[in-house]
Amino acid sequence: MDNIYRHRRAELIEQLPDNSLVILAGYQQKVRSKNIKYHFRQDNDFLYLTGFNEPDAIAILVKREVSEYLLFSRPKDPAQEVSFGARAGVEGAVEHYGADRAFPNELFEQTLLPLLQNIKILYISDELGRFSSSLINWANHHRINSSFDTPKNFTSIKPLAEVLHPRRVVKNHAEITTIRSAVAASTAGHKAVMQACHAGINERQLSSLFDFTIAKYGCNDVAYPNIVAGGNNACCLHYEDNCNELEDGQMLLIDAGGEFEHYASDITRSYPVNGRFTPEQKAIYQLVLSALDQAIDKVRPGAMWNSLHNTCMQVMAQGLKELGLLSGSIEEIMTTESYKRFTVHKTGHWLGMDVHDVGPYHDDDGNWRMLEAGMVFTIEPGIYIPEDALDVPEAYRGMGIRIEDDILVTANGFENLSADVPRTVEAIQAMMLN
Ligand code: GLY
Ligand code: MN
Ligand code: MN
Repeated sequence: MDNIYRHRRAELIEQLPDNSLVILAGYQQKVRSKNIKYHFRQDNDFLYLTGFNEPDAIAILVKREVSEYLLFSRPKDPAQEVSFGARAGVEGAVEHYGADRAFPNELFEQTLLPLLQNIKILYISDELGRFSSSLINWANHHRINSSFDTPKNFTSIKPLAEVLHPRRVVKNHAEITTIRSAVAASTAGHKAVMQACHAGINERQLSSLFDFTIAKYGCNDVAYPNIVAGGNNACCLHYEDNCNELEDGQMLLIDAGGEFEHYASDITRSYPVNGRFTPEQKAIYQLVLSALDQAIDKVRPGAMWNSLHNTCMQVMAQGLKELGLLSGSIEEIMTTESYKRFTVHKTGHWLGMDVHDVGPYHDDDGNWRMLEAGMVFTIEPGIYIPEDALDVPEAYRGMGIRIEDDILVTANGFENLSADVPRTVEAIQAMMLN
């Protein structure tokens, strides 16, 4: 179990300049109320490099002639472990997690300070800012303790993300397999919701059915709060209240993705609550699906990231014009971006340990990134027509239609990982009406 993390640490160390030190702060448990905590989830950078899934941990990587990996964690404590579960402790950190040396976490600062001797670059990964106020003290401590004729320390303090996040964009075989498992669970979840959907059911019930189904497929959690939005609720992009009763004639938008072993899926489907599209619902749906399909068709190594978004926008702008929802020539519509009124958001993001996964969308020269085999991302065009868009014919109002698939770049093109969630009008109707 330690091997994959050992390998990642070795690759990172290889990339760092000599005399670098990395501080990786793990997450702490968040308070829900008083002494009740939220379920713990580890920081992704920390987990990516250590595999260590306990709160309050810190790791240090030192790159010198002899490099070192130190892990600081909660010490063993029988009373706490009876109440809240087992801890690896210092022994486990060495034995099971590959640390060269391990310490109780309260010894972090006193262990760190001597290690900073002769360190030139300090890399920090500390999303919660646990050590932001200590950084100046450490730098000062180090300055004061170095004599006038030794090289001054810390030519810079940098975010580790600069080095680590580009590495996380291209997934290896094991990561892709894990994402497939997340997508398979979510596929079952979406199908279950599609079959259970009917007028009178509450958004909350469908959300719970999704959670129940993905749990059967090994997910511990969702990758982000479910969005189960009937009718006009879908026009709020991050509608998470999920508390309204669905009505006959409405569209439902469900954006939900299970998390499997810390890897996300992120899938959206939109369909009529009663399983039968009105002509207007069908027209908008087909337009969004056509935008998505044309963008997916562009995916291959060497294609530019932004070409996918641009394709979606061109297809949807043209379609909205043909439906009479946008006026002017297509050139005017594209130049003034008047389509944005209905298309609202960007149409994709990297997918991995984070649902909006880390890593740059531009290369070092500021150009849009070219796609590479092993990248995984979403494409998710949408059209949103709120109920107060009074200049639009009534039959179109009060609906948000988004379709979101999870796409893997392969050596020759792409694989749509979420293609098994019904996505054509025929497939949706077959699932809902049979
Ligand atoms: N569910 C969040 C997103 O689609 O980006
Ligand atoms: Mn998404
Ligand atoms: Mn989504």
